[in-house]
Amino acid sequence: MNPVLEDIFRTQQFIGPDDQIHRLHSHLPDLECRLLQAWIAANPPGRVLEIGMAQGISSVAIAEALASLGKVHYDIVDPNQHTEWNSLGVWNLTRAGFADSYILWEEPSEYYLPRLAAAGEIVDLVFVDGWHSFEQTLVEFYYINRLLPVGGIVIFDDIQLPSIAKFIGYLGRIPSYQRLPPTETLRKDPGVRVRRMASVPEFRIVAFQKIAIDARAWDWFEDF
Ligand SMILES: C[S@@+](CC[C@H](N)C(=O)[O-])C[C@H]1O[C@@H](n2cnc3c(N)ncnc32)[C@H](O)[C@@H]1O
Repeated sequence: MNPVLEDIFRTQQFIGPDDQIHRLHSHLPDLECRLLQAWIAANPPGRVLEIGMAQGISSVAIAEALASLGKVHYDIVDPNQHTEWNSLGVWNLTRAGFADSYILWEEPSEYYLPRLAAAGEIVDLVFVDGWHSFEQTLVEFYYINRLLPVGGIVIFDDIQLPSIAKFIGYLGRIPSYQRLPPTETLRKDPGVRVRRMASVPEFRIVAFQKIAIDARAWDWFEDF
């Protein structure tokens, strides 16, 4: 793993551009960063979108995974990076050596995504970790479904939240999507074994691959 990320996870903090110590929070955990990287390595994308940057932890993990794939277009959308988050995501990406590896769009995903879809853009992998209400996730997926080609992947964080769990229940009903399993290697990680013993989900991220063109009828509905 990238040394900057390793150090942040080990110390649970980092020094910001303001020379202050910043406690790590609201981030994707170490295990999930590694699973995200494994999914990227197993399904090399040509274009990636991340929703929700915060302190840039998942962003560094994604940028690191993409670096070994050659040229991949990587966009991050987050309206609050230079305000609420004091540019700490940008700071960590820069410290980790990925200053030139991404484009940051400082606007809400609900405005950004329809623009991409209207322009006919294609995105191979989307990581969703922004505003976690049910309707926000549904709106995001509505457009992500239009951006993803067959074979494309959408990954959601925080399945422990009722809003996300409920949405995943819905997505699981859509015939053109199939859940991607976590890698066997990571399932053997001691951290995962601890979670299993504590009866909590092995991972808090979930990935779905688009396996066919979405050919649902205009009035399709399945209860969930
Ligand atoms: C849980 S944090 C993301 C954590 C980050 N992925 C990581 O691992 O470090 C959620 C982020 O979503 C952003 N956010 C909130 N509303 C959003 C919206 N409408 N569109 C995009 N991002 C949004 C917040 O500013 C915040 O940075």
